Amino acid sequence: NSKVASEQHRPQIHFTPPSGWMNDPNGMVYSNGTYHLFYQHYPDSTVWGPMHWGHATSTNLVEWQHKPIALYPDSLGYIFSGSAVVDTRNTSGLGKNGKAPLVAIFTYHDTTGERKGRNDFQSQAIAFSNDDGKTWTKYAGNPVLANAGIRDFRDPKVGWNEATKKWIMTLAVQDRVAFYSSPDLKNWTKESEFGKEVGAHGGVWECPDLFMLEHGGQQHWVLIVNLNPGGPNGGSATQYFVGKFDGQHFTPYSNETQWLDYGPDEYAGITWSNTGKRKIFLGWMSNWQYANLVPTKTWRSATTVPRELRLEQVGGKYRIASLPVAELQVLAIQTMQGQQQGVLNGPVRMNLTTQSLDAFSITLKNKVGQKVVLGYDAATNSFYMDRRASGKISFEPGFAAIHRAPRFSATPNIKLTLIVDKASVELFADDGLTVMTQIFFPDNDYESYSIDVKDSSAIQSFQVTPYRSMYLQG
Ligand code: FRU
Repeated sequence: NSKVASEQHRPQIHFTPPSGWMNDPNGMVYSNGTYHLFYQHYPDSTVWGPMHWGHATSTNLVEWQHKPIALYPDSLGYIFSGSAVVDTRNTSGLGKNGKAPLVAIFTYHDTTGERKGRNDFQSQAIAFSNDDGKTWTKYAGNPVLANAGIRDFRDPKVGWNEATKKWIMTLAVQDRVAFYSSPDLKNWTKESEFGKEVGAHGGVWECPDLFMLEHGGQQHWVLIVNLNPGGPNGGSATQYFVGKFDGQHFTPYSNETQWLDYGPDEYAGITWSNTGKRKIFLGWMSNWQYANLVPTKTWRSATTVPRELRLEQVGGKYRIASLPVAELQVLAIQTMQGQQQGVLNGPVRMNLTTQSLDAFSITLKNKVGQKVVLGYDAATNSFYMDRRASGKISFEPGFAAIHRAPRFSATPNIKLTLIVDKASVELFADDGLTVMTQIFFPDNDYESYSIDVKDSSAIQSFQVTPYRSMYLQG
């Protein structure tokens, strides 16, 4: 553990695989006091390859224990992304002695079929566990949803629909979403498609999610759709729709394209199952534009911090806001009044509140002159992150860039939360109405910060909370 913890660029408060490749978080499910995290994993290399489901567990969402690989590729294909549910009523009949099994629903990606030029190489399959996720058995009747010849047909996210007493599978199909229903997780019936006239279509739709959020005493449906490429700052990103779902059809309230995170480095984000009204979101902290090229040696990629989602109404529109889960506090060492200049010595949270809408910026820097600059631009009423001089940038031509995100809040001042780790910064502005995630790879860790404002009285409050590493005991 301590060896891993001291590797260059290794995140200290974000989940990473012990070694090898990781992309999407998968099958997140809460069961018996344990948060399960599975992930797209290739243990034999630091680049994408035959996909497995890696596995880790946590009781607090921030300190993770690595577990044996849950699902290995087999003759039906690689194990692509998907979800997991607690089958409380044992509708699948896969529970032992009538108990509730965990059921994983994933995509088989058949490379042999793909090489032969077939279009039906992705299908949906299930596996089950009767020992709380320790061991998994693939269902003998797989696939449970065959493919009629559509090239992109993947990433099933399944949830129980209380109104219709059926399982609903939300599936990414080319640049649309399709909804399927099932009484038992084994037999699936297509209900509808969504996305022809709405949303961003700069790439293929992947990793969708469908769930409810409450606002003003009412339940609203949220449909998350990951998109690659075509994100607001290039490459991979997460869009969402708020609307109604009647068990068959999803109808958005608005046709505006909305983004859950505007930064370049949050992708494939979906939520945990079985957490009741609370919705906890986790994304992959990278971008397909350079995920295979980032300069880490023994592993590649991290997840975002887990984020709690809420619904807000701003200017008559429903928007998702997200903030780091409260559990992150487990890692807090103390909270202090910050100065305009200070040292960085490990991961940190910064909470800044301004008096006005004047421009400001925060710089994270090291002793060799490398830096990340982020802030608020008053002229365009937007937030930005600049990693042009952040350190190692030459591994991909588009990496060195400034990224921007609009401000939605109408409050006369700004509230900002930053989560800074060795190789990333996550910005949550206005209580999470605008979110941006960005990774970076400085030659030396950033060791100081400064805040730049025209008039220092523009800062109403500034707190710094250093975090201990998740690799150290509390
Ligand atoms: C998203 C994705 C998914 C797919 C998985 C393969 O990043 O492309 O659509 O299931 O990665 O690893």
